[in-house]
Amino acid sequence: MKWTAPKFAALKNKQRIAVLTAYDAAIARLIDEAGIPLILVGDSLGNTALGYATTLPVTLEEMLHHTSAVVRGVQSALVVTDLPFLTYQASIEQAITSAGRCLKEAGADAVKIEGGEFRAPTIRALVENGIPVMAHIGLLPQSVRAMGGYKIQGKTEDSAKQLLRDAKAVEHAGAFSVVIEGTAADVAAEITKSISVPTIGIGAGSGCDGQVLVINDLLGLTPKPPPFAKQYAKLSETIRTAVDAYRRDVESGAFPGGG
Ligand code: KIV
Repeated sequence: MKWTAPKFAALKNKQRIAVLTAYDAAIARLIDEAGIPLILVGDSLGNTALGYATTLPVTLEEMLHHTSAVVRGVQSALVVTDLPFLTYQASIEQAITSAGRCLKEAGADAVKIEGGEFRAPTIRALVENGIPVMAHIGLLPQSVRAMGGYKIQGKTEDSAKQLLRDAKAVEHAGAFSVVIEGTAADVAAEITKSISVPTIGIGAGSGCDGQVLVINDLLGLTPKPPPFAKQYAKLSETIRTAVDAYRRDVESGAFPGGG
């Protein structure tokens, strides 16, 4: 069964939802085979695979390239791709053109864009043009310069109220799901109760409908993972040990052997 945005949205109040990021076909295939319903080609691509310090330098071409690879590895999961910084903020026309390329050229099923109440007109326009949108509120990594760092949102009464308005605005604009990043747990839980589409949290406590993790954090490939990320494997150690064994075998002649 291929997941669609409406089917994903219908998971609200039925089950807790596990979402993961992926950036290439090999990992996407494994995640898909494990039954994850939604794979996000996050612009965390910039930090995880491209070696940038933030997501700001990531280009649309880079997202298209990696999204195509993920799509080729996936049979069932809904593939959502991030529109990177300054590929949708300038105008609604720019957003439709960028998002359209993700669906037409890379084969994505939907896009994710950052921003709450102020982004609602863009979300509405995308949805009206046949492009499913996952919204992203709370800590917005593309606004790290304006926010003055990666800070937990919703800690004051005003900011909590604004986040609730953000969630309702993106829902009314037609988003099929909302990522809530880096937000006080009680605020994320209240938002989750107040809207009818699934909330997917990251660093936002346990009260969301689902959780998303960056696959590199889960696999133990991130040198300094965020404190909320649970590591389910230690692949850095595994890779170092394997590469070291290979190097020693080549140097000693044990591999390929026979000579
Ligand atoms: O870019 C990304 O991976 C994301 C998730 C952290 C939600 O936006």
